[in-house]
Amino acid sequence: MITHDVVIVGSGLAGLRAAIEMAGKVDVAVVSKVYPSRSHSGAAQGGVAAAMANSSDDSVESHFFDTVKGSDYLADQDAAEIMTRDAPVTITEMERLGCVFSRDEKGRIAQREFGGHSHPRACYAADRTGHALLHTLFEQSMKHKAAVTYYSEWYLLSLIYEEGSARGITMMNIRTGELEVVRAKTVLFGTGGYGRAFKITSNAFACTGDGVMTAYRAGIPLEDMEFVQFHPTGLYGQGILMSEAARGEGGYLVNGKGERFMDKYAKSKMELAPRDIVSRAEQTEINEGRGIGGKDFVHIDLRHLGREKIIERLPQIRQLAIDFLGVDCIDKPIPIQPTAHYSMGGIPVDVDCQVITDEKKTKARGFFAAGECSCVSVHGANRLGTNSLLDACVFGRRAGKAALDYTLSARHESVNEAAELGKARKRLDALLSTPETESANDIRNELKETMSNHAGVYRGAEGLLVAKAALKLLRERFKSVRVTDKGKLFNTELVEALELSNMLEYSEIIVEGALARRESRGAHARTDFPKRDDANWLKHTLARKNADGSVSLGYKPVVITKYQPEERKY
Ligand code: FUM
Repeated sequence: MITHDVVIVGSGLAGLRAAIEMAGKVDVAVVSKVYPSRSHSGAAQGGVAAAMANSSDDSVESHFFDTVKGSDYLADQDAAEIMTRDAPVTITEMERLGCVFSRDEKGRIAQREFGGHSHPRACYAADRTGHALLHTLFEQSMKHKAAVTYYSEWYLLSLIYEEGSARGITMMNIRTGELEVVRAKTVLFGTGGYGRAFKITSNAFACTGDGVMTAYRAGIPLEDMEFVQFHPTGLYGQGILMSEAARGEGGYLVNGKGERFMDKYAKSKMELAPRDIVSRAEQTEINEGRGIGGKDFVHIDLRHLGREKIIERLPQIRQLAIDFLGVDCIDKPIPIQPTAHYSMGGIPVDVDCQVITDEKKTKARGFFAAGECSCVSVHGANRLGTNSLLDACVFGRRAGKAALDYTLSARHESVNEAAELGKARKRLDALLSTPETESANDIRNELKETMSNHAGVYRGAEGLLVAKAALKLLRERFKSVRVTDKGKLFNTELVEALELSNMLEYSEIIVEGALARRESRGAHARTDFPKRDDANWLKHTLARKNADGSVSLGYKPVVITKYQPEERKY
């Protein structure tokens, strides 16, 4: 058994920011199924939000209000206020840690427009902002090499959680197949989101909800899982992100009739309406036959921005569109479609990122979560672009501080190593010794079709019930899934099967939550209940695992401090 004071699972922005906060003060381990600089935070492109002083009429208050309004009033306002208040200092801190932000003509950190924000407040590094932030934090954490132990390419198998306290994790070394128990006073998850269950997604292959499902299986409820964000501009057929920065810099969305259609859906904000609205607008154009050539995509047109601006501000998306579709946006519009992008739901936490286990906000001792795997909930039903990198940095730091305080006065609880390893071994052996009839690829592809067709940008009871029945069958088939590689070294087939089991189970939770929520709010758009219903549904979902494996749903109130819900108009 390995022992550390703190084990952080996940090496994206939230996990690394928390690690830096604790490094040198307690003994910290960072476990990740990828090498840290490959974490999905690096894929974020367009910016990180903060009301800096660039625009004289911007303010923290305005950022706070935009976030709450953008969330369709489901955000917990105490958390949203903290995030927006801490934003400017967080950006300055990241800059001082070495992040190379783009500059404006006065030499200040440059800021651009982004959807749903009333002021240009996206601080950016061209269109590689997540990459710049992630590398800054990774470099900083390497400075503390002696104080932070990395377990890269280790796969999380379980959370050891007994009698209301987290005691460690079990994990598998992907390179060797070796199993290990890590005992720790404190466990902190920064394991990211769960977009891979959809056919078209901007999420990396790693975003399979491992942390979220590990917590769920240990008895922690999951919050608001039905709220999955679709980003309006995924590269057609691929889902790869074409940053909202492209619209922030002035790009137009155009349908098959050559019309700039956003004026029908959000007259004042046009392409810079929040993502839920723009994605629905595109989907409506496509569904009504106004996609390009009647197909399932529309165009983003950047040609009028000119070569110089595109090369300076949007170099990455230009290159991605060239590499994957052979389209150079200097000369041609880029084919795009909505892409599953962000998980608003996740592990419920308080504003210090300590995991809470019920409607009464009972705290899980020694268990913290931050970033996309958590639900604090600053984004409510719909996240504004650039608030995700901010969330990860602000709450990564808060998680690190709170976890440090907790760890300094905690002790290691007992862990039955043999029993934990036995459970992990049994799970793996079951996968390795099935009758080998079902293909994991087939199950995964059918899952993605099901989720995209029935739980996507638009959902209705009929489709959700089809999805529910299909998922039940897929989970049944998964019991005989084929893992042909029986070896230990780099058994990625086994890892993918474990990931698939997570994807199947969280998809059920998404569908159950979506079926129950008989209203439309933010990213959850019900065709059969098209209106928001505050009287009945201004509340967070909490999904729990029953003893027979089924999902039960409970609810908890939204924290409203300042802004009463009103109709969202853009
Ligand atoms: O469009 C983008 O650049 C994505 C940013 C975000 O999700 O915050």
